[in-house]
Amino acid sequence: MKKAILTMLKAAQPEYISGEEISSTLKVSRTAIWKHINILKDEGYIINSQPKKGYQLQEIPDKLYPEEITDGLTTEYIGQSVVYFESTGSTNNIAKELVRKALAEGTIVIAEEQTEGKGRLGREWISPKGEGIWLSVILRPNIRPIDATQITLAAAVATVKAIFDVTGLRLGIKWPNDILFNGKKVVGILTEMNAEVDRINFLVLGIGMNVNNTEFPDDISSIATSLRMINEEKVNRINLLQSLLKRIEEQYKLINKGEFQKVIQDWKEWNITIGQEVAVTTIKESISGRAVDINEEGALILKLINGELMKVLSGDVTLRPKIK
Ligand code: BTN
Repeated sequence: MKKAILTMLKAAQPEYISGEEISSTLKVSRTAIWKHINILKDEGYIINSQPKKGYQLQEIPDKLYPEEITDGLTTEYIGQSVVYFESTGSTNNIAKELVRKALAEGTIVIAEEQTEGKGRLGREWISPKGEGIWLSVILRPNIRPIDATQITLAAAVATVKAIFDVTGLRLGIKWPNDILFNGKKVVGILTEMNAEVDRINFLVLGIGMNVNNTEFPDDISSIATSLRMINEEKVNRINLLQSLLKRIEEQYKLINKGEFQKVIQDWKEWNITIGQEVAVTTIKESISGRAVDINEEGALILKLINGELMKVLSGDVTLRPKIK
């Protein structure tokens, strides 16, 4: 009901719409409408009411409400079902709990704020209220567990494309899936998986996007930035999220059709790793070399100082300044 009233208010914008018209179209009492209007006002919508004219929607709040995310969202299933929190520990953790309730594929968990946001390698992910997109997507890809990195690479491609669509900014992908601008991180991706030996039960794709942050804590201010800090302009988070969901679906469908090579092609176009001197920290060791390619599985190919080629499946890459 609330969504239907909101849709009518939006359709009438910038004009007023009478309570009578809403009531006869939706077949509910004027009192029920008034109650829902008050709920919308409490949620931050600015709605003017005038005795003879009815209601007029003046302003939509800067919130990632499910009604706003799904309004005009053109995906088939990614983001069509939304679980929303004003504040939560970690959207990835919530998604992992919810998935046991057989939620539909493509359901997203989103929060205005995370109090225990998780980064890769056990790090913390700073997720201040209303400033970013802290998102988890529930997926059940029909690929083998060892191919799960495909999803992370695809998510990186989807992210840079969505940012370009909405802001015109061209960010770069550092292998496997950090999104950077001038060496500073804007987006991080954390994929968590539940699998059997040969089958993925579910996968939670967690994306943290610094969108409208205006500052970062001292300890990360030299390595993190936001779209707003880069462009000196506030970004509409709903537009960006809708574009991101669309791009995720596009990439995800390629993977499910067995067309991961198309993802790799795009990944290469947007990457800033190949051709660079890098240091890769894996669980076992730290290796230095030149990143020369990524292969058809998405592994990074390093050329070591002795000329040998080495395949790296996972790790943390640091781009090193070129030694002249
Ligand atoms: C990284 O370290 O680069 C990955 C950061 C991933 C952060 C996102 S925010 C939404 C989701 N929930 C989490 O707790 N983490 C991921």
